[in-house]
Amino acid sequence: MTIIVTGGAGFIGGNFIHYMLREHPGYRIVCLDSLTYAGNLATLDPVKDHPDFRFCQVDITERGDVYKIFMEEKPDIVVNFAAESHVDRSIEEPTVFLQTNILGTATMMDACRRYGIKRYHQVSTDEVYGDLPLDRLDLFFTEETPIHTSSPYSASKASADLLCLAYARTYGLPVTISRCSNNYGPYHFPEKLIPLMIANALADKKLPVYGTGENVRDWLYVEDHCKAIDLIIHKGRVGEIYNVGGHNEMKNIDIVKLILHHLGKSEDLIEFVPDRRGHDLRYAIDPTKIKTELGWEPETKFEDGIKKTIEWYLNNREWWEEIISGEYKDYYKRMYNAR
Ligand code: NAD
Ligand code: TYD
Repeated sequence: MTIIVTGGAGFIGGNFIHYMLREHPGYRIVCLDSLTYAGNLATLDPVKDHPDFRFCQVDITERGDVYKIFMEEKPDIVVNFAAESHVDRSIEEPTVFLQTNILGTATMMDACRRYGIKRYHQVSTDEVYGDLPLDRLDLFFTEETPIHTSSPYSASKASADLLCLAYARTYGLPVTISRCSNNYGPYHFPEKLIPLMIANALADKKLPVYGTGENVRDWLYVEDHCKAIDLIIHKGRVGEIYNVGGHNEMKNIDIVKLILHHLGKSEDLIEFVPDRRGHDLRYAIDPTKIKTELGWEPETKFEDGIKKTIEWYLNNREWWEEIISGEYKDYYKRMYNAR
């Protein structure tokens, strides 16, 4: 079994590669990643010498390069994680989101059509459903919820999902899609809420909370997401969409306070800053389908997952300190100094 994993030098793709090499001895994993600002080879250090692992620095929009890897590797399965993934960056400059997230997805599926594939899996997001009101806790996203995007990021991911469904129907491509809630865990790029707050708290810097901090996200430990994708690619029904989430809704402000508490830092570090434009209020997944069809259940409780995550950031400072000392500094200034 050969699996091409795109975006494997990023947060979830990296965790997925570690997971698959551990859980499926004998599977060959070929990672395609162009190493954008969000890609980090250090994330793949633990597996770089694994005999069943190959890394290829390839941009998924570069058709010739992608086709060459397909010819060499003859993959059975493709799991497409590669994407521009940060909402704030998409608000700043949408174009690259359209290129990678839409055209990159089409290029990967064209390669699958041309060379044949047993399964193409698209890693999507619950953000394609837009948001839910804060005062209707009875509402959840199901697979039937209409697509209703808010940011250029989510619009690009929704476009990719529509293309996947079109390729399934028109060309009979064996596609599955997963739409997961917010992930957290090791190797999470420090521009995202949880790692950013950990890094700032450790440096006694202000913790910038957008708006009032009342926005709600549904957090899932990254390994539980990896397990869900593993189940879908092996047992999921072709042409189907699976929502992935663990009923773990939390307000941003409560997450930030929890992190401060765990690190023994003062809540005085919290700074409320002007809100994100178009900021989605609440995400909440109904995971009934994946539970009943595939028996998936999240294994890590948030209390345990957040402790493990904070410990990981304490024990792996070189991984994230390297990141925040580079280009990230300019990003941080652009994004936060003007707020
Ligand atoms: P990430 O930003 O940490 O990693 C993205 C990876 O893709 C990086 O390694 C980057 O170098 C690579 N990449 C970007 N453009 C590329 C291109 N043109 N060609 C090849 N590689 C390219 O992202 P993540 O948080 O790990 O998210 C992975 C996927 O999961 C994305 O598709 C995202 O939409 C989806 N997702 C993320 C979350 C979350 O909470 N992070 C939740 C649900 C779904
Ligand atoms: P983020 O990690 O960017 O994920 P997403 O926007 O995809 O859900 O943000 C999570 C939540 O945290 C979101 O409501 C925005 C908020 N947030 C802050 O309040 N401050 C920050 O500095 C960041 C990065 C996010």
